[in-house]
Amino acid sequence: MNFFVLSCLLVPLTAITRAQNLNPISPISVAPNSIYDDSSASTTNVTCASSLERINATSFGDVQRWPFIGGTPAIAANGSNSPTCVSCWNMTFEGNFEFIVAINHEVDSFQISQSAFKALVNETENEPSLITANVQLIDNRFCGLL
Ligand SMILES: *[C@@H]1O[C@H](CO)[C@@H](O)[C@H](O)[C@H]1NC(C)=O
Ligand SMILES: *[C@@H]1O[C@H](CO)[C@@H](O)[C@H](O)[C@H]1NC(C)=O
Ligand SMILES: *[C@@H]1O[C@H](CO)[C@@H](O)[C@H](O)[C@H]1NC(C)=O
Ligand SMILES: *[C@@H]1O[C@H](CO)[C@@H](O)[C@H](O)[C@H]1NC(C)=O
Ligand SMILES: *[C@@H]1O[C@H](CO)[C@@H](O)[C@H](O)[C@H]1NC(C)=O
Repeated sequence: MNFFVLSCLLVPLTAITRAQNLNPISPISVAPNSIYDDSSASTTNVTCASSLERINATSFGDVQRWPFIGGTPAIAANGSNSPTCVSCWNMTFEGNFEFIVAINHEVDSFQISQSAFKALVNETENEPSLITANVQLIDNRFCGLL
């Protein structure tokens, strides 16, 4: 089998495998989590630590879109090699949308920095602490990731 035929077979198979692993749940509960607001926090404790190391992000602030970062159930607890590690998401809530870089596992909600959350809900005095938003996995380049 020559290389051309082989790659024609491999590409669709890879695409299918990727799609099955991604499992983006939408709509999903979204909550603020202040751990993601700390630009100096080390990336060593998040699920995607090894992927972040590869892009030289040693602290949260090194992630191109910080503070638009967070954690999602679409990254498994043991998902350091998951294709969703360091992925870009379009999060939509009542007419607002923003791009979030997912770097961590969270159990049952998508958690994002407080500042990203405030931007999404149009910061008000009585902010909700939990919303339901639509999320869509989009090309990494929208988040400035290669
Ligand atoms: C990683 O998490 C452990 C346990 O929660 C904590 O003690 C440690 O300080 C954290 N390390 C970094 C670099 O954040
Ligand atoms: C990470 O840093 C190393 C050493 O400075 C550099 O050689 C490499 O190109 C950098 N990688 C990326 C993805 O920026
Ligand atoms: C990750 O954990 C899940 C659930 O516990 C398990 O089904 C899966 O096989 C694990 N994957 C790896 C790569 O360890
Ligand atoms: C993100 O979602 C908004 C609202 O649905 C949409 O208008 C926009 O085109 C989306 N952007 C991308 C890159 O998917
Ligand atoms: C936030 O404000 C903009 C502009 O007024 C509006 O289009 C959008 O629907 C508002 N979104 C929310 C979540 O309040």
